[in-house]
Amino acid sequence: MISSARAVLLRQRPAKFPTPHDFELVEQRLPVLGPGQVLVRNLWMSVDPFMRARMYGVSGYIGPFNLGEPMLGGAIGAVVESQAAAYSPGDLVASMFGWREAFVGDERSLTGLPHGDVPIEAHLGVLGMPGFTAYGGMKRIGEPKAGETVFVSGAAGAVGSIACQIAKIEGCRVVGAAGSDEKCDWLRSIGIDSAINYRTCGDLTQALRAAALEAANPFARFVECGMIAGVTAALPLSAPTNLLNVVRRRIKMQGYISFDFADLQGRFETDMARWIGEGRIQWQQTVEYGIENAAAAFLQLFAGANLGKMLVKLA
Ligand SMILES: NC(=O)c1ccc[n+]([C@@H]2O[C@H](COP(=O)([O-])OP(=O)(O)OC[C@H]3O[C@@H](n4cnc5c(N)ncnc54)[C@H](OP(=O)(O)O)[C@@H]3O)[C@@H](O)[C@H]2O)c1
Repeated sequence: MISSARAVLLRQRPAKFPTPHDFELVEQRLPVLGPGQVLVRNLWMSVDPFMRARMYGVSGYIGPFNLGEPMLGGAIGAVVESQAAAYSPGDLVASMFGWREAFVGDERSLTGLPHGDVPIEAHLGVLGMPGFTAYGGMKRIGEPKAGETVFVSGAAGAVGSIACQIAKIEGCRVVGAAGSDEKCDWLRSIGIDSAINYRTCGDLTQALRAAALEAANPFARFVECGMIAGVTAALPLSAPTNLLNVVRRRIKMQGYISFDFADLQGRFETDMARWIGEGRIQWQQTVEYGIENAAAAFLQLFAGANLGKMLVKLA
């Protein structure tokens, strides 16, 4: 029986870039279970770039986090106690209750997970939202065709590394950009044709031309799932000055949010399980330990400290 648990709250909205002072670690009492409810002890928590946008008091495609409430996001835990027919103690579940060591939730807010061959935390990465984001963007918008060249930025991250490998499975030549030699070495080790360290390569366009023949070929598709360098309410995004190339090169540019592709969920699960079984998809994770380090893990995302998915493992 657990009567209280620690959680990380949003203490204040960031003035500019988020800092450790914007978060607060507190001990919270857990409510008594009601009918249909489950007590879950979290084992793994996700920290994701999208959380930064929700810390500000502005609405995007989804509303801001509430001040004084836990940072919301994906987590995986084990059922400790259940008043719900669908769950028994020991069952593994995914939830969106975020940065908490334990919580009481309605059974309808949980997704049961298998005790499978794949490490359970993969459901926060390759088999979870980041993997699905890569899959949906590539399949529905990028539509890579064998022989084409695919360029992926953020290539060694949770989404980018899976996008690279899906493009390889589709028979493309893949060029990835990442922020360190270690990340680029890993990308090459998993079969990415060319990996560019954008911090040391000088002019990225020149490096891209050398690696990919043309920076953007006619009829190129730009699949835009995020712009991590520009997502703060305080800083305006800079606009490209060469947008006329969209016309000249007949470029298609489309942004998306992963849940636009809810209809692909079944195909994603089937394809990804098969590709993992065949050894065609690999992944990395960077792990911080303990809920007291969740905010630090989150902030490190924006310093490029993670190779693959950034996760927090709870005791
Ligand atoms: N549309 C959607 O539904 C959706 C869903 C999930 C994620 N996303 C977006 O996809 C992107 C990647 O997410 P992820 O979860 O896979 O994160 P991630 O790539 O695993 O981690 C973030 C990486 O971004 C790079 N980075 C951080 N700050 C940067 C900056 N100022 N300029 C350039 N690069 C920077 C760093 O890699 P380097 O060291 O290589 O620079 C860092 O490791 C984010 O923009 C996120 O918001 C969108």
